[in-house]
Amino acid sequence: MTQDPTDGAPELLGFDDATRLSADAVAEVYRDHHFGGLNRVAALLGANIDVASAKGPWLSLSDGSRIFDAHLSNGAVAFGHNHPRMLEAARNALDYGGVGLPGPVPSRVVAGFCRDLTRIAPEGMSRAILYNSGAEAIEGALVATCLAQGRRDLFVGFEGGFHGKTAGARSMGGIANEKRGFPGWASTEVLPYADLDAASSFLAREGRRVAAVVVEPIQSNGGVRLPPAGYLSGLAEACRRAGALLVVDEVSTGLGRTGLLFECQRDGVVPDLLCLAKSLSGGLVPVGAVLVGDRLAKVMASATTASHFATTFSGAALSAAVGLEVVRMLSQEDLPGRAERLGHRLEEGLRAVQSRHPRLVREVRGRGLLWGIELADPAGLPGRFLPRGFGDFLTSRFGGSVAIAMQRYTVQHHRALLAATASDRRVVRVFPPLVSEPEEIDQLVQSIEASLADGLTAWVKNLT
Ligand SMILES: Cc1ncc(COP(=O)(O)O)c(C=O)c1O
Repeated sequence: MTQDPTDGAPELLGFDDATRLSADAVAEVYRDHHFGGLNRVAALLGANIDVASAKGPWLSLSDGSRIFDAHLSNGAVAFGHNHPRMLEAARNALDYGGVGLPGPVPSRVVAGFCRDLTRIAPEGMSRAILYNSGAEAIEGALVATCLAQGRRDLFVGFEGGFHGKTAGARSMGGIANEKRGFPGWASTEVLPYADLDAASSFLAREGRRVAAVVVEPIQSNGGVRLPPAGYLSGLAEACRRAGALLVVDEVSTGLGRTGLLFECQRDGVVPDLLCLAKSLSGGLVPVGAVLVGDRLAKVMASATTASHFATTFSGAALSAAVGLEVVRMLSQEDLPGRAERLGHRLEEGLRAVQSRHPRLVREVRGRGLLWGIELADPAGLPGRFLPRGFGDFLTSRFGGSVAIAMQRYTVQHHRALLAATASDRRVVRVFPPLVSEPEEIDQLVQSIEASLADGLTAWVKNLT
């Protein structure tokens, strides 16, 4: 019988003993008692690292080394790890002595959060529905559009779109891997992304059946795809003409990451519904929200509708308290402006890297502090850049994804944790914290450059 690495630990661990588990014990427990695939995913990505502590962009490992975290749980930890203001907000909430989970009882903390959130919202978005995650916010938006739109039963999503893993959110997405094996919750039309003509003509033709169009202003999981200027406003106009509601998913882009508080503001769009999550709590506690604009205000104001939206944890004081601090910090510290300034530096760095490695890097694209590096298709590389058997190596070790190979090589050899996209095997994303220092952005760029400068032969030789 193999030895259980948690042998010798008390029958029930509790928090203190759990934090003292060895890295091996954690791996085994993940394998045997957690949904095991995640452990294998961590190993594949090189993310099975033993983090002793985390501060700002830095993960300090048990061996004393540190890694720049440009993954941040896909951008959720937007203000870096263990940000003092987030921690203080959480502590204050725990010490407050009011009701932690008020249910139907009005809560001052929740009231404050809804007020402040709607203050920073795009003009006219006057109500907030609170949730616990991005996918849940999308579900809430779909429910709201169903209530408002009566018999209209068709929903429009986009190729490459990602909205979460719950059934409704998955239906709205357009990433094949995410949809395979799922019958789809609603009748959904998935249109090409960033193609205004295609969307406008579909809405002109079928618009009377369409309840809502769900769109990301920049697709993150879809490979950091940016639509041309005017796309979102054109789509909003086509929705308006068709009587369809526009749901903008800013779970990834929202709250400063792209250099604006909300990316939809770049095109001057006020959506009918706006979904937020991730950085709304700096990734510290579960949170999600749907902001609702004028067109739905009446539906949302009715007491009978409330029962469709209330969920057990949607009024949790802890989430609302941390959210309140996030909203204040974004504004007091002008974090969108900071993201924009740092974003210029990151862009400059990444473009220089591309120009020095034009064979390996096909394109860099992004905005603010959300960037994607599109690697070349290895099959198309000239022989001297391509080690023999690289295709087989990629297929057998990384499911054919050169992006995953780069993510793993960079964390193992150059001390930065990047974020390969699930949908595009060639795109690696970087999400530095909005509070990074300029020199830290330079360090991140140096790590990326070093991985590319080592070249694919080194990847094959040195990837453990
Ligand atoms: C654009 C977008 N929408 C929705 C979601 C789902 O959020 P969550 O993982 O909190 O359910 C994500 C998560 O990556 C996302 O990027």
